[in-house]
Amino acid sequence: MGWLFLKVLFLGVTFLGCLYPLVDFCPGGETRGQKPNFVIILADDMGWGDLGANWDTETKDTANLDKMAAEGMRFVDFHAAASTCSPSRASLLTGRLGLRNGVTHNFAVTSVGGLPLNETTLAEVLQQAGYVTGMIGKWHLGHHGPYHPNFRGFDYYFGIPYSHDMGCTDTPGYNHPPCPACPRGDRPSRSLERDCYTDVALPLYENLNIVEQPVNLSSLAHKYAEKAIQFIQNASASGRPFLLYMGLAHMHVPISRTQLSADARGRRPYGAGLREMDSLVGQIKDKVDRTAKENTFLWFTGDNGPWAQKCELAGSVGPFTGLWQTHQGGSPAKQTTWEGGHRVPALAYWPGRVPVNVTSTALLSVLDIFPTVVALAGASLPQDRHFDGLDASEVLFGWSQTGHRAEPKPVMGTSDRSSIMSLPLFLTWKMMLQKLCL
Ligand SMILES: *[C@@H]1O[C@H](CO)[C@@H](O)[C@H](O)[C@H]1NC(C)=O
Ligand SMILES: *[C@@H]1O[C@H](CO)[C@@H](O)[C@H](O)[C@H]1NC(C)=O
Ligand SMILES: *[C@@H]1O[C@H](CO)[C@@H](O)[C@H](O)[C@H]1NC(C)=O
Ligand SMILES: *[C@@H]1O[C@H](CO)[C@@H](O)[C@H](O)[C@H]1NC(C)=O
Repeated sequence: MGWLFLKVLFLGVTFLGCLYPLVDFCPGGETRGQKPNFVIILADDMGWGDLGANWDTETKDTANLDKMAAEGMRFVDFHAAASTCSPSRASLLTGRLGLRNGVTHNFAVTSVGGLPLNETTLAEVLQQAGYVTGMIGKWHLGHHGPYHPNFRGFDYYFGIPYSHDMGCTDTPGYNHPPCPACPRGDRPSRSLERDCYTDVALPLYENLNIVEQPVNLSSLAHKYAEKAIQFIQNASASGRPFLLYMGLAHMHVPISRTQLSADARGRRPYGAGLREMDSLVGQIKDKVDRTAKENTFLWFTGDNGPWAQKCELAGSVGPFTGLWQTHQGGSPAKQTTWEGGHRVPALAYWPGRVPVNVTSTALLSVLDIFPTVVALAGASLPQDRHFDGLDASEVLFGWSQTGHRAEPKPVMGTSDRSSIMSLPLFLTWKMMLQKLCL
């Protein structure tokens, strides 16, 4: 009896052993021991309704993104972790809400701090797992000393330290209010507008060096595309898996003027800017397709909703107009916790893995990117802290439709009110909007 059992066991194990090479495929995403590459593209101030696939208005300006939606999965209930820039980006890179990672406000040009150094970024986790890591674009998580991206897990960095309206340029572009160009020679150029920065010319960094100052806004998108393509090329040639995180300048103001003059059909600045962004994403996707298709997971999303005070230079919230709000002179957009402030476009593209032309209604968030990417990379989450997202790979691969459940879980005994507008702020807001747009 004992022998028979052992024989059966032995045969069984041998049989499974033979099968093993055939089933060397795990939900974690590692096929034949190859770790997947990740490209995470984050648009700035883009509205849910700006994506043609989400909200089909008469002019569609996002042909490449719409194609990506048809070739992958589009999430319609996907949310930023905050409705302003720095907190949203800090959450993406730490997988934690602002109340936990310490970033609840935007950093300024004069900030000497940044994302707290005790936080571990997604790039650091992947670097440990053998990845080549790159960041191209707007950082906005502190730019001095140890807060610079090169010290936060990125082997390569090319971009601007904060928003491109936080410094003057030679070609100011469309903004609301319009801001003057950088002063030339002895000519002072002080703007009376509170929102215009004339003291510091916007710098462009490559790793730790400033390579251009002021930035030429007209050629920034082209430079981002060029560097992204180079990075993907170099990383692929190195034989190591890579993470590329891109913080686009689009659709934040100012919107560069060349975009409009280059547009033969004379579209309005916002539409022309949207087309330029779409083309930039298209170029990156093409490079991925040519270099590392089927082993690269491309994720496109936004940092928060459109910036209502920028009027015709702001994007569309789609159906999330918050009529009650707008009738009161308020807004359901960026800087608010109303739907249009944090519901953002989101697309996942990974040929052969993410099913094509699927719309997912699963409730997911930018906070889920960290645990999902870490799981797909076969790495593990730091054990000494709480993460606010979930591993969404089952949803991405079409095996589940369940994202977060609607009931909010209590966060360390307090509720997260960090980004809910206070009444005085709301009233100031209302007055500003009325002054600006009406
Ligand atoms: C790091 O410090 C910040 C600010 O003091 C705090 O909010 C956060 O919880 C700390 N993070 C970790 C991982 O301990
Ligand atoms: C800025 O870039 C545009 C587009 O590439 C170019 O035509 C222009 O000459 C550049 N301006 C400067 C000051 O280099
Ligand atoms: C890619 O590699 C080339 C050759 O080593 C180097 O000159 C270039 O700076 C690299 N580019 C990026 C974006 O890593
Ligand atoms: C995607 O799905 C929609 C509706 O489900 C369909 O109308 C469309 O033709 C599909 N597109 C492609 C490229 O398969």
